[in-house]
Amino acid sequence: MIEYINGCYHITTKALGYALRITQHGDLQNIYYGRKVSGEDLNSLIKHRELLLVNTLYTDGDESYGIDDMDFEYSFSYRGDSRSCAANMTTDNHSVFDFVFDAARIDAKLPNSCMPIPNGYDNSLCITLKDRLHSDLELELWYLSYDNCNIIARFVRIVNNSGQAIVINKLMSAQYDLRLNQPRLISLCGAWGRERSDKEHIITAGKLNLGSFSGMSSAECNPFFMLKSEDASVNYGDVYGFNLIYSASHEIGAELTPYGGVRLTNGVQSEGFSYRLDDKQEFISPLSISTFSDCGLNGVSMNMQKFVRELVSPKIEVPIMLNSWEAMYFDLDCDKLKLFADKAHELGFEGIVIDDGWFAHRNDDSSSLGDWYENRHKFPNGISEIADYLKAKDMKLGIWIEPEMISEKSELFIQHPQWVLRHPQARQIVGRSQYILDLSQSEVQEYLYNILVRIITQYGADYIKWDFNRRFSDVFGGEGGAYYYRYILGLYSILRRITDDYPNVTIENCASGGGRFDLGMLSYCPMGWVSDNTDPLSRAEIQDGTSYGYPISVMLNHITAKLSHQTRRSTSFKSRKDTAYIGVLGAQWDITKIDDFDKQLLADTVAQYKDERRDLLVSTLTHIPTSDNTVAWQIMSEDNDLGWLYLMHKRFYTVGVLPILKLSNLDSEERYRIYGDNVDVVLSGAALMNVGLILPQNYQGVKVSDKLLNLTDVSTLLLRIQKIREDR
Ligand code: DGJ
Repeated sequence: MIEYINGCYHITTKALGYALRITQHGDLQNIYYGRKVSGEDLNSLIKHRELLLVNTLYTDGDESYGIDDMDFEYSFSYRGDSRSCAANMTTDNHSVFDFVFDAARIDAKLPNSCMPIPNGYDNSLCITLKDRLHSDLELELWYLSYDNCNIIARFVRIVNNSGQAIVINKLMSAQYDLRLNQPRLISLCGAWGRERSDKEHIITAGKLNLGSFSGMSSAECNPFFMLKSEDASVNYGDVYGFNLIYSASHEIGAELTPYGGVRLTNGVQSEGFSYRLDDKQEFISPLSISTFSDCGLNGVSMNMQKFVRELVSPKIEVPIMLNSWEAMYFDLDCDKLKLFADKAHELGFEGIVIDDGWFAHRNDDSSSLGDWYENRHKFPNGISEIADYLKAKDMKLGIWIEPEMISEKSELFIQHPQWVLRHPQARQIVGRSQYILDLSQSEVQEYLYNILVRIITQYGADYIKWDFNRRFSDVFGGEGGAYYYRYILGLYSILRRITDDYPNVTIENCASGGGRFDLGMLSYCPMGWVSDNTDPLSRAEIQDGTSYGYPISVMLNHITAKLSHQTRRSTSFKSRKDTAYIGVLGAQWDITKIDDFDKQLLADTVAQYKDERRDLLVSTLTHIPTSDNTVAWQIMSEDNDLGWLYLMHKRFYTVGVLPILKLSNLDSEERYRIYGDNVDVVLSGAALMNVGLILPQNYQGVKVSDKLLNLTDVSTLLLRIQKIREDR
């Protein structure tokens, strides 16, 4: 709900409250953001905020109006607020803008947006600020409340009718001036092969600036982050969570003020950003989403998971696919794929993905991107031969494509050199022997849309694996980093058209593993490839980090070969299978060469997954606090009747101790059976939450016994949780 009450705009969801007011000088001041309070409290909260005693700068001679410590909703550079501001713009002759409140509309109709904005919000609020120095330059601050998911979303829009051009150097989607004891920032940083697996940053004094400048949301710093009080932990304490529905370079700013406030900003990256907004043009920022919970990191994570699962990602049942990449790499052909399909069919897979290497002269990564027609040596009768073969088995056809890229060795490069993003005179910067196409050109967008239509309609693809394997380099044309924003609008327009026109086609989001695993891409793709690294030990850590911001329903995992192609570590089928199971399941493994034992294990897994996926993929993962040597998750259905319990035991120590697993969010009064992998106990919800699940003793290094668990290096447990119904 959004209402104007006691001098405040009060935005509430089921559990959250957010209040802001227009001050006597026309600025927007944040009053609070946290667990819902009653509208009655707002008066006193405003009074509390008026006590600003240590001010060096104040507005219009009003000494009670200190700028230094004011919790602003949105600040502009060069107006006395020396913290990092949300916006910075220039005209030909100056940089001062004096925006003040002009109007507010509750339940305002959203403007047409080129950015993805999830439907399903309950209320909207648009506050218009007008610049007193340039008449008819307006900045709108938008707020959307998603009541059931406890998400408050924000974006900004600038409408320029000032008669002159302005240059936007920085325009964050949102600024959050918050009060929190000893704040700590938690981000999902990483790298290729360990995406989103590093977590905590401590902000003590000064500014922290995270984000990406590679043109992608990146493996190095995902747009999701949290802010917690020092004492908050997995299940307790005050935590805020944030994300951005955006896929290009982005920025996360965090700053502690000497007065105990913390300022956060998120949005399009400001480094090198120089966006010219001519008269009569407008600019829309991506959506910044946020939530709060006083139930620790899990509380935030649960809100985020629900929001993404229910409102962001398309609802398509993703088939269980067997992918050719680690099985064949570039060395694929129609006969091999037919055999692959036969075995996949025997084991219960629902389709195969023909990964990189099927087109033009592509036998390694040095050529052919852009020439999206089949290689006639590999497919003498065209893709239709394997497509028909699969159809006869009632299996889906998946095709890999990297549409945004072009190889220098390609016909497309010869035909359209002007489409390539590279500086004609500078030294050429290639990544994986390829360049990026200039998607800001509408001609390129049209061309790519038609390529995709051809792959769907002529080849009969039911599934597209959309890859993106290099960072940006030659961004030129005077607007610097603002180019990334224009590029991503081009990408979204292609994705929007394709998904509108072919809503039943599954698009897998991939970018050299999980390099563009973000809510922008997930607005069009039901799931994304989490990482190229499928070694279960690495993967447990990657999935652990990722699941703070994203539900398992958008996380695509594969069972791969025993010897990991990324880490060269050998692990058991069980640990590979258990880890891949918590998400959207698939595989990439040469199953034409595996023994009968592994075949049976794989077939059993696929059959079980088919039985359980409908429940599993609408379930919510919570993190179970454990030791450094384990990763543990509880995955529960929405009604809390059934679930899964996953444990990764990283390293075996003789006479080692297993952690006690304290579960959460169960009904205290109900009884639950926890079973599987040599465990079978029945306990009340109260006991499981307060005492915890005490696992049977593990092998201690002396005697093997079937009374003990057998957790060695990189070993897992995957248990079922079942509420016991007395009436059964
Ligand atoms: C990177 C992806 O992450 C892999 O899964 C694979 O599709 C390769 N690209 C193919 O070039």
